[in-house]
Amino acid sequence: MIVPHRNELTPVGERFALYRAPEPAVTASFADDVRSGLTAPRKTLPPKYFYDELGSALFEAITLLPEYYLTRAEAAILQRYAPAMIGALDGPIEIVEFGSGSARKSRTLIGAALDVQARVTYHPIDISPSALVACATALVGEYDRLDVAAYASDYVEVLASARLSTSKRVLALFLGSNVGNYEPREACALLRAMSAAFKPGDGLLLGADLKKDAATLELAYNDPTGVTAAFDKNVLGRINRELDGHFDLDAFAHVARYEAVRGRIESRLIAQRGMTVPIDALRLDVRLFTAESIHTESSYKFDDDDIARLAADSGFRVARRWSDDDQRFAVWLLVIE
Ligand code: AVJ
Repeated sequence: MIVPHRNELTPVGERFALYRAPEPAVTASFADDVRSGLTAPRKTLPPKYFYDELGSALFEAITLLPEYYLTRAEAAILQRYAPAMIGALDGPIEIVEFGSGSARKSRTLIGAALDVQARVTYHPIDISPSALVACATALVGEYDRLDVAAYASDYVEVLASARLSTSKRVLALFLGSNVGNYEPREACALLRAMSAAFKPGDGLLLGADLKKDAATLELAYNDPTGVTAAFDKNVLGRINRELDGHFDLDAFAHVARYEAVRGRIESRLIAQRGMTVPIDALRLDVRLFTAESIHTESSYKFDDDDIARLAADSGFRVARRWSDDDQRFAVWLLVIE
């Protein structure tokens, strides 16, 4: 296998090319973000740092939990409505996916597209080159009429660059309620960048978790098996591993609370005692008092009005909406005006 140089679209295999961002943006910013987050008056760590190899495996385990209904509900929606989703745009289409991960969900849509057109190009964008290589290699092996142009980069960088070259009608995918991790203005800015990168008539399939009772939501983010707690604490483990930190993970409790007014689950790690934690690579001592919290994630929940507003503010119109039988999760088709 050819190891791709940075900053160019390189053939890695038959029907598979990989673009790597020039800067290892994530590793460079981890130290900076940890420093600024843990020295702020209200301590916080950005959720994007959950996903190292261990964190990604823990997230995969979360998707198997009975309490975490999101992934299964979305998969059921895609299985049932993939042909309708593909058919809703006048084709032929190319598929762009923001945050492809293992691309398990997108297989349904790729399959449905290949049912109605001779060839399909799939452009997965993910921060992890190893996940992209694994997923793209599997996909081109599975589908002989599929081409993959993959981008190991963050979304904003790919959208801002001229790298993402599409010629056909685009169906972009932003699934898994990943939109929920962004603050409302950030989500709006990201969708605006998407609508600016594609053409009028192109579509975005946006998968998002629906607002519902607090008990169901809180159980989904604080499972009795403790997988979500381990996932949350892994960000401290990652600081220990990569920045020579000295966090005692047992000294923190994971808490997830639904703030109905803001419509979001707030995940926090609460210090069970006062402590001073050296982070050697940052030459920093982090001081925490008893019951002090580190905010690790917000997971926003949506209703139709929220999505209508988000779409209108970012250059889209709502074209279609599909949901699961229990009305827990929905996928919207937004079309660029
Ligand atoms: C992958 C961001 C959609 O917020 O539901 C799962 C991550 N956090 N359990 C979410 C997550 C805790 C998840 N997203």
